[in-house]
Amino acid sequence: MTLQAARKSPAGSTVDSAKALYGGKSSRRITVHDIAAAKERGEKWPMLTAYDAMTASVFDEAGIPVMLVGDSMGNCHLGYDTTVPVTLDEMAMLSAAVVRGTKRALVVADLPFGSYQEGPAQALRSATRLVKDAGVGAIKLEGGERSHTQIELLVQAGIPVMGHIGLTPQSVNTLGYRVQGRGEEAAQQLLRDAKAVQDAGAFAVVLELVPAELAAEVTRILHIPTIGIGAGAETDAQVLVYTDMVGLTGGRVPRFTKQYADLRRTLGDAAKAFADEVIGGTFPQEEHTFH
Ligand code: KIV
Repeated sequence: MTLQAARKSPAGSTVDSAKALYGGKSSRRITVHDIAAAKERGEKWPMLTAYDAMTASVFDEAGIPVMLVGDSMGNCHLGYDTTVPVTLDEMAMLSAAVVRGTKRALVVADLPFGSYQEGPAQALRSATRLVKDAGVGAIKLEGGERSHTQIELLVQAGIPVMGHIGLTPQSVNTLGYRVQGRGEEAAQQLLRDAKAVQDAGAFAVVLELVPAELAAEVTRILHIPTIGIGAGAETDAQVLVYTDMVGLTGGRVPRFTKQYADLRRTLGDAAKAFADEVIGGTFPQEEHTFH
């Protein structure tokens, strides 16, 4: 079953994007070759972030074909204000958990801020750690033209690389959280960044907070897949930060995100019900008790 066919399923809930990406012939892990083939077939696919084994296993069973251990773990899992403080040790530990929790997804780990900006040699050392110790199948790093030598060396060393251009959250202190690529000059820079990432050998590129028309143009020009977040509907794939997607994130969530569940309320209600029963003496009952 192709992804298109699966999406037309009347049940609407039986889409198995992972199976669709490799033709459903086995339960092996998705590879970058499956991703390339999907672009040739014109098939769209979803990517979600994950930061722990249990959540990753749920998404893997749901058929999410690519899982990103994003440095968004900083804000969404580790309690930091931004992605900037995330360390390579933290990334390695949580990436290994996501790999252990998945059987089919291609697991991509972010290179955290400070682990590749010094140059290609530092990038290769950091990426090698995530591939060897955590077992991830690919690495993501931020930056277009400015990161092309890092991407080139990783690819030469046999490490698949996903690029990330547009809004790059590790540069929040210079860029802020603003739509990128607006205006002729900024649009030309984004196109140069996209080409630089592709020419350096990346297998895919994230476009974050980019006007939809520009993201559509990049998607037409590139032969590698584009993965949009706040970049309109024309990219080859879409990614969401999972805590936004399931309604766990507290406070304001970005406009481009869609909340498919309200886990914050569900967890809060469960915690309150447990507390009430303990205080009222109605938990545990006989069926929870050993003699
Ligand atoms: O860290 C992350 O979650 C990301 C996505 C927003 C693409 O980079």
